[in-house]
Amino acid sequence: ETKPRVPVIWMHGLECTCCSESFIRSAHPLVKDVVLSMISLDYDDTLMAAAGHQAEEILLETKEKHKGGYILAVEGNPPLAGDGMFCIDGGRPFVEKLKWMAEDAQAVIAWGSCASWGCVQAAKPNPTQATPIDKVIRDKPIIKVPGCPPIAEVMTGVITYMVTFGRLPELDRQGRPKMFYSQRIHDKCYRRPHFDAGQFVEEWDDEAARKGYCLYKMGCRGPTTYNACSTVRWNGGVSFPIQSGHGCIGCSEEGFWDNGPFYER
Ligand code: SF4
Ligand code: SF4
Ligand code: F3S
Repeated sequence: ETKPRVPVIWMHGLECTCCSESFIRSAHPLVKDVVLSMISLDYDDTLMAAAGHQAEEILLETKEKHKGGYILAVEGNPPLAGDGMFCIDGGRPFVEKLKWMAEDAQAVIAWGSCASWGCVQAAKPNPTQATPIDKVIRDKPIIKVPGCPPIAEVMTGVITYMVTFGRLPELDRQGRPKMFYSQRIHDKCYRRPHFDAGQFVEEWDDEAARKGYCLYKMGCRGPTTYNACSTVRWNGGVSFPIQSGHGCIGCSEEGFWDNGPFYER
């Protein structure tokens, strides 16, 4: 209670804002406790009351007052084509602002598949050259929290770990926190016994679908997707894509958007 709250600067590049939408629904811990008691969310385009010059001044103030002490959380990514002109933020290319704020951060969080991998705006042929943030920030630790969006409790869990222990969570080779990304959806999926028994859905409305059999033959990517959906689940632990009847499209994996997660009927 006596520890000063860690300043967090939350920036938005090319994105859809659903990472923020996910974050504000965290139930454990409640997002209000994270924002009002655990961290000092000093800048966030979406959640802050300040606007215009008043808001932009916070960035310089944070760099000067908390040099090396603030966390830079990034939702979305910078487009590099045309000298960054496809995403202008506060009057300058987002890529410039991103690098400038990263210079004095203690660590950077890449929220979601946009910041971590590029995501849909980097889909071929990627005309704006949307680029994952670790390709432009080279000298800071980056924690990748992929997913489109990531699970709310995974996002607040990462922040809780960092402010509680004062260090980064243990990361895998791709920079993801092991505590949430070390297992595949398939490893803990409740439909797994049907996979093992060779019981598969073959049409969306067949008898096997009604019985809740495995969705592997319908294109489920659970066997190759590392995320916590089958354990932590969504909406406070209520459900996740497979439980709602559709296979996993691998939204936390690099390149999922170009690998045919969508289909026509
Ligand atoms: Fe939206 Fe997905 Fe990007 Fe998050 S990762 S901002 S949910 S497109
Ligand atoms: Fe694996 Fe998907 Fe089948 Fe679940 S539904 S057991 S994740 S293939
Ligand atoms: Fe995404 Fe698959 Fe989870 S589509 S939300 S990683 S079940």
